[in-house]
Amino acid sequence: MKRKDQIPPASGKLGVLIPGLGGAVSTTFVAGVELVRKGLAAPVGSLTQLGTIRLGKRFEHRTPQIKDFIPLAGLDDLVFGGWDIYEANGYEAAMYARVLNRDHLEPIKGFLSGITPMRGVFDRRFVRNLDGTFVKKGSNLRDHVEALKEDIREFKRVHGADRCVMIWCGSTEAFLEPADFHRSPESFLEALDRNESRISPSMLYALAALESDIPFINGAPNLTVDIPAMVLMAREKNIPIAGKDFTTGQTLMKTILAPGMKARMLGLEGWYSTNILGHRDGLVLDDKDSFRTKEESKLSVLEHILQPSLYPNLYKNYYHKVTINYYPPRGDNKEGWDCIDIFGWLGYPMQIKVDFQCRDSILAAPLILDLVLFTELAQRIGMGGIQEWLSFYFKSPMHKEGLYPEHDLFIQLMKLKNTLRYLKGEEQITHFGLDYYMDLEED
Ligand SMILES: NC(=O)c1ccc[n+]([C@@H]2O[C@H](COP(=O)([O-])OP(=O)(O)OC[C@H]3O[C@@H](n4cnc5c(N)ncnc54)[C@H](O)[C@@H]3O)[C@@H](O)[C@H]2O)c1
Repeated sequence: MKRKDQIPPASGKLGVLIPGLGGAVSTTFVAGVELVRKGLAAPVGSLTQLGTIRLGKRFEHRTPQIKDFIPLAGLDDLVFGGWDIYEANGYEAAMYARVLNRDHLEPIKGFLSGITPMRGVFDRRFVRNLDGTFVKKGSNLRDHVEALKEDIREFKRVHGADRCVMIWCGSTEAFLEPADFHRSPESFLEALDRNESRISPSMLYALAALESDIPFINGAPNLTVDIPAMVLMAREKNIPIAGKDFTTGQTLMKTILAPGMKARMLGLEGWYSTNILGHRDGLVLDDKDSFRTKEESKLSVLEHILQPSLYPNLYKNYYHKVTINYYPPRGDNKEGWDCIDIFGWLGYPMQIKVDFQCRDSILAAPLILDLVLFTELAQRIGMGGIQEWLSFYFKSPMHKEGLYPEHDLFIQLMKLKNTLRYLKGEEQITHFGLDYYMDLEED
């Protein structure tokens, strides 16, 4: 791994390859990058574009911008491509998604219209509520992987992009249990060759990425790159992988509130979460198997933050329920309600109500940008395999077997920044602070 002064500069075009290119999140991300490049909007929500990093002791007053501290690809170097199962170009898809208004879309209509998807690899068994027509023919899984790899080669050639990152922004696929054939690259590839029915389209995209030496990030909760076979492949080839399921909306609120409650040793009786959501994502999640995938991801967050086994007096047996209801009029403007029953000193009950009237894709788009830039950095310096330091962005962060995932947003942020400090040879910041007040002698 290259560190400190050996980190190569980010030069040349960086291809961003997106399965689900025509979705609400993807179009909001692509349009947003172009608006920022043109100086027509600000990249609010993006740590790489707006965040700073404190270095050294507090009296040193060294707090550069992250993008000045570590060499990340610039926005002007990003080129976009990908796949969808509907043929709409970027402008048509963004109009359909109804996230950005005309004032934002008209000035970049030409740019967006030029972004056209490649035919997707699709299998309706995994996304029952969609019936895409713009799909690759045939059902041989290896052929599909080869066709995706050919798409990637063509994209790189057309755009002159030597480096690429692939990020899954496609629909949430039906719930899949890990299977025996997921355990090793050999068994997975054998299963592929016999067209095993439990290999999902997202796994084919991930395999095509890894076989093309391209990092893969999973923005949705489906089982994809988080199987041992893919993790081993990524490690062997030293390719970064990350996932899964962007932390936005209601779960973002959970990762902010729950650590605070635990820090104050307040107890939890129950946490009832419900959402109404329209657009295509809402429709997909209206299918019980796709919802199950999402539900698992959403439920795991509290358990890991609150650690009931360590704090049985506070968190044993709390009731946690998450529902999502498809409600077309709301489109992408999801409304998430949380009814939280807590208890304090001597067990006295209290309630917290949260009504987050959020915009799902507005919250997700900056995460895609950061993930693409940080993952490409990881690739450039030779830091392959699971990128646990990017847990900050995910509801179900990937982690090494034997470790538990870190869900506390503030610990996740510290982990991310300390990784950047480490890469640049700067001191880790632990927020210890006693050394400002006392001469601490080493034992
Ligand atoms: N918006 C958020 O805040 C958020 C947060 C976490 C996760 N996610 C996940 O991100 C994904 C995208 O969300 P969205 O709101 O943009 O949904 P969307 O329905 O608007 O977009 C998904 C796109 O994927 C396409 N697609 C489906 N299967 C495909 C395949 N096999 N190959 C290529 N394209 C395919 C669909 O046609 C659609 O255009 C979803 O899985 C969602 O659950 C979103």
